[in-house]
Amino acid sequence: MKNIVVFASGGGSNFEAIAAHCKSGDINGRIVLLVASKPGIGAIEKAGKYGIPVFIGNPAPTALWQCKPDLICLAGYLKMIPQEILDICPVMNIHPALLPAFGGKGMYGHYVHEAVLAAGEKKSGATVHFIDGEYDKGQIILQREVPVLPGDTPDALAARVLKVEHEIYPEAVKQFCNK
Ligand code: GRF
Repeated sequence: MKNIVVFASGGGSNFEAIAAHCKSGDINGRIVLLVASKPGIGAIEKAGKYGIPVFIGNPAPTALWQCKPDLICLAGYLKMIPQEILDICPVMNIHPALLPAFGGKGMYGHYVHEAVLAAGEKKSGATVHFIDGEYDKGQIILQREVPVLPGDTPDALAARVLKVEHEIYPEAVKQFCNK
């Protein structure tokens, strides 16, 4: 049974997707801690539903290390992860585009979907990748495409991509934990 720590800064729907797959036994892992970048985010309420402890703020690497994590999952986490945390265990991230395209500093949330639409792309999608210290770089683990439809707004595209995120992130975590 692998120990997973999830970092979130927003609604926490990706966090919840992973938590649900752990609870069902699909993933041979348990989320031992949610790190929330600030109070009042939706991810904190979701952690309560699953009985997952919450740490709010920037965790000291030693405090994280005590959780003995086998895997850290960034799920809508908007801050850089310091190298001493990257040194603890592998760190995964979910990005709402087909990296390496539409990645890098400033490319998050609706900015990504606005850029995809402005570029006239016919497809987009989501990427799960390992973090190696630079924004949205690191080995790609899983990607899945979605079509860009005529008349798409950033919100419509974001919703279509988010649905796929909830499929591939638990799948990537499962491949890591169940091997
Ligand atoms: C997702 O779109 C993810 O791709 C991006 O931030 C958003 C997080 O959403 N990194 P949620 O907090 O998991 O609902």
